Parts: sequence; structure tokens; C-alpha cells
Amino acid sequence: DRGTDISATLLAWYDAHHRTLPWRAAPGTPAPDPYRVWLSEVMLQQTTVAAVKAAFLRFTTRWPTVADLAAADDADLMAAWAGLGYYARARNLLACARAVVADHGGRFPDTEAALRALPGVGAYTAAAVAAIAFGRRAVVVDGNVERVVTRLFAIEQPLPAARPAIRAATDTITPDARAGDFAQAMMDLGATICTPRRPACAICPLRERCAAVHTADPARFPIKAAK
Ligand code: ADE
Repeated sequence: DRGTDISATLLAWYDAHHRTLPWRAAPGTPAPDPYRVWLSEVMLQQTTVAAVKAAFLRFTTRWPTVADLAAADDADLMAAWAGLGYYARARNLLACARAVVADHGGRFPDTEAALRALPGVGAYTAAAVAAIAFGRRAVVVDGNVERVVTRLFAIEQPLPAARPAIRAATDTITPDARAGDFAQAMMDLGATICTPRRPACAICPLRERCAAVHTADPARFPIKAAK
């Protein structure tokens, strides 16, 4: 079907073109440590990949496990967070690490629902960790995925009203196997090819399967609500 065809094509592209990032495992190798996946996803929420790289290495060198982070001094953690912005996230980070240690024996829970119950873990982070660290089939939608999917399906509804349709469309193309690689492949495609302005459609692996590419202006998706 169309979903399987799209996910298989994208995963083959990811195998050849994925970005190597400090929190990632290479495609086809064992999943990365859930602690590292969770930490990177929290950091990536409002900060660019380039800025997160250094901070991620700083944190994981100083606090290699979730138990180490849970035992961190609050002021030390706040200082280490400098430059990442939005300090409520740092406070939640500590609360979450402490909950994993106190309530889960120092091991991150492995389902989306149980992850969602942790302090500061929202729908996006729970889905990303479930898919990337635990191989669960979760529907992972961030800003990159919204852009790729609204183009792939030519979703004419504006944001934010389009969100349920985007989620449903993403569900139809999410594979049962390699859901974590698939989510990260969507992010990489959105970051490197299906960019907000001037997307590189000529070299896109999903070109033949994209509803927007043959329209006059693929970059007009996602449609923004008129202000
Ligand atoms: N943005 C958010 N999560 C990401 C990830 N795992 N890889 C690349 N970009 C991301």
C-alpha cells in the first residue's frame, strides 16, 4: 500500500543519508540508551540540533546515567543548562530523572502511556522515546514531520486545525518495524531536503510519491491560518 511504499523508500534513504548525531545509534544497530534519547529529545524541543550537540555531550559526560542526573545538585544542573533557554525545562528534567529513579528503579518505562506520566514528558517526547529507544510503533509528529506530511498529502487545511489530519496521515505511513528510524528519517528529510523555504524536491527520495511536488508551489505547505 501507499504507506508501506513511502516508509520503505524513506528508510532506504535514511540508511544511506542519515545524519550522524551523538544521541543516535546507526540504523540497524541496537537502540540507544533511553536516557540519552529522552535527554536529547527534551533538549531539541526549543533548541537547534547544532546547539544541542555540545550541550548533550556536556551533560552525558558529567551525568552518564539517569541516576547520576537524579543525584545532581539543582544549581549545578541549572548552570549546565545555560544557553539552552527556557529554564522550566531544566527543572522538569531533574523532576523526571528523580521520578525514573524513585518510581521505576532507574529504568525508563517502555510504553508511550507510562512515559507520558513522567514529569515534563508530553505527547511528542513520549512518542519519540517509545519509538527511538524501545522500537514501539508510535506516531511521532514534530514541526519537521508536519511540514513533510502536509506536502506529501497536500493537506490544504491550515495549522493548527490540520493537526488531527496530519496525525492521521502520519499514522498511515508509520511502519510497524523501525518506527524510531522512520521518525528520525522524517526529521532528517525535513531538516535537509523538505525545508521550509526552497525545498530540494529534485533530490527528494519521496518525489514520486509527493502530492505537493507537481503543484505550482510545494513550499506553501503547511498552510498557516490567516492572522
Ligand atoms: N529533532 C528532534 N528530535 C530529533 C532527532 N532525534 N534527530 C534529529 N532531529 C531531531
